[in-house]
Order: sequence, then structure tokens, then C-alpha cells
Amino acid sequence: MRHVICAAAALAVLSGLAAPAWAQGKAPLVTFEYRDGAIAASLTGKAGDPQRGRQVIVGRTLGNCLACHEIAALKNEPYHGNTAPSLDGVASRMSEGEMRLRVVDGTKVNPDTMMPPFYRVDGLNKVMKRFQDTTILSAEQVEDVVAYLKTLR
Ligand code: HEC
Repeated sequence: MRHVICAAAALAVLSGLAAPAWAQGKAPLVTFEYRDGAIAASLTGKAGDPQRGRQVIVGRTLGNCLACHEIAALKNEPYHGNTAPSLDGVASRMSEGEMRLRVVDGTKVNPDTMMPPFYRVDGLNKVMKRFQDTTILSAEQVEDVVAYLKTLR
């Protein structure tokens, strides 16, 4: 299966509206392709930074991953939820691309998941205007999170 997601913001870039988007402090959303349950390519074209990824994962207003997941390597951080599988050793059971799709939009893997889609760029036509063309995490933050997850072997 092969899918291409086109963000409305990407069209805005093509039509020359990128400047106002940047002026609001929002990066234009990037397009990505997923197949076989994975996004093989980095959203930014670069590898992320695991240290910054760690901050996104523990940040309560960012990833807040520990609200649902346990990560033994972060045991000094307060509160680890257990409503989701532990992420210990996740990089040994999933490929980088599979982890990326999970973080970007887990509903592509399991439509009923309660995990928030951190970089969903389609199906946003019914959201409030101020939330249009926004994602929970930036493309760079997604890559930072993936870089941290890769350390969990
Ligand atoms: C609201 C709860 C919740 C939050 C917050 C959450 N997840 Fe999840 N996550 C889940 C659940 C539940 C699953 C189990 C798979 C499913 O639902 O399809 C899951 C699955 C995963 C998987 C696949 C693990 C496996 O072994 O199959 C990864 C990787 C993952 N999450 C990473 C993250 C990261 C990174 C964050 C933060 C950026 C995060 N999750 C935030 C609930 C959550």
C-alpha cells in the first residue's frame, strides 16, 4: 500500500503563502509518504537529536508520552502511565519507519488507538480555524522523538 499525504499548508507554500505562515511562527507542514505501516524517510530530511527528543517525550505540554507509556531509562521523571505498552526495547521490535508512523499518526496503524496523532496533516477540515494547519509536534520534534526512541534497544 502506498499513500501520499498532502498538507493544505504545502499547497499554501506552492501558491506563495509561506511567508505569512512563518510570520505566525508556524513552519509549513511537510508532506510525507507511508507504506507497509512505516514512514521510511525523515520528515525533515535529517536525523533528529535524541537529547531534544527526550525533552519532548517528558514535556507535559509537548509529547507527554509518559502519561501513557513507561520508559525505564526515564525512571527519574515523575509519573509513568501504564495504559499503553512500555517503550523499553521498542527499537528492537520496530523499525525506525514504523516508530515514525506511530508518532506521526497511530490511527494509520490502528484506527481506534487512543494515542494522539502528533503530526496528522490530513482530515483536519473540521477543526477550528486557529488549529488548522497546526500539529501537536513540529516535524523537527517528531524526528527528535524518533531519534530518542532509537536509543531504546
Ligand atoms: C493517550 C495515551 C498515549 C500517549 C500520550 C502516547 N501514546 Fe504511544 N501508544 C498508546 C497506545 C494505547 C499504544 C498501543 C498501540 C495502539 O493503540 O495501537 C501506543 C503505541 C505506541 C508505540 C508502538 C509501541 C509498540 O510496542 O507497539 C510507540 C512507538 C509509541 N506509542 C510512542 C509514543 C510516543 C513517542 C509518545 C509521545 C510523543 C506517545 N506514544 C504518546 C498510547 C499513547
